[in-house]
Amino acid sequence: MRRAGNLSRHRPQDNRFSDSGGFQVRSAKVTVIILALLFTSLGGMAQAKPADDLLTKYREQGAGNVNAKAGETLWGRRFKDPETGEERACTTCHTNDLHATGRHAKTGKPIAPMAASANPKRLTDPKFIEKWFSRNCRWTLGRECTPGEKGSFLLFIQSQ
Ligand code: HEC
Repeated sequence: MRRAGNLSRHRPQDNRFSDSGGFQVRSAKVTVIILALLFTSLGGMAQAKPADDLLTKYREQGAGNVNAKAGETLWGRRFKDPETGEERACTTCHTNDLHATGRHAKTGKPIAPMAASANPKRLTDPKFIEKWFSRNCRWTLGRECTPGEKGSFLLFIQSQ
């Protein structure tokens, strides 16, 4: 009888243990979900960061009044190539619509849309951005772009 009594006295305690165990599992799940949400939102922030870091760098290099409007104007401006006499602009390959697929003027190869809203890979890799600024500015303008010009291009592309 004493044993049985002991057992029945233990049972509620056991239940309490398993209940609190269940609670711990549940709160662990909630923690995982919260962390997952946090990382997802951090991921979104991380995408904007490379372009922001480049903007900071361009400002340190002396870029003054960078803005999307100046970037847009420069994006469509035509520059005459002194050798061939042909007119070149960023739009020659990327088109006027940054949401559209471009076409390489020389190779005819398609170029994925430039707008980050249409192509999430855009403006995520500073080295890639710098490499193509350098190539494309030399081909289009016949010289490297200034930090100010690059900053305005970035803001314009970001705004699309
Ligand atoms: C002769 C064709 C051509 C012209 C003209 C051109 N681009 Fe590009 N651009 C490319 C190609 C090719 C790539 C790399 C392929 C890709 O990213 O889809 C590229 C990539 C870029 C990228 C990389 C973006 C990223 O994060 O993925 C930037 C920035 C860029 N171009 C800016 C410009 C600017 C600014 C101009 C005008 C000064 C310009 N381009 C003119 C062909 C061109």
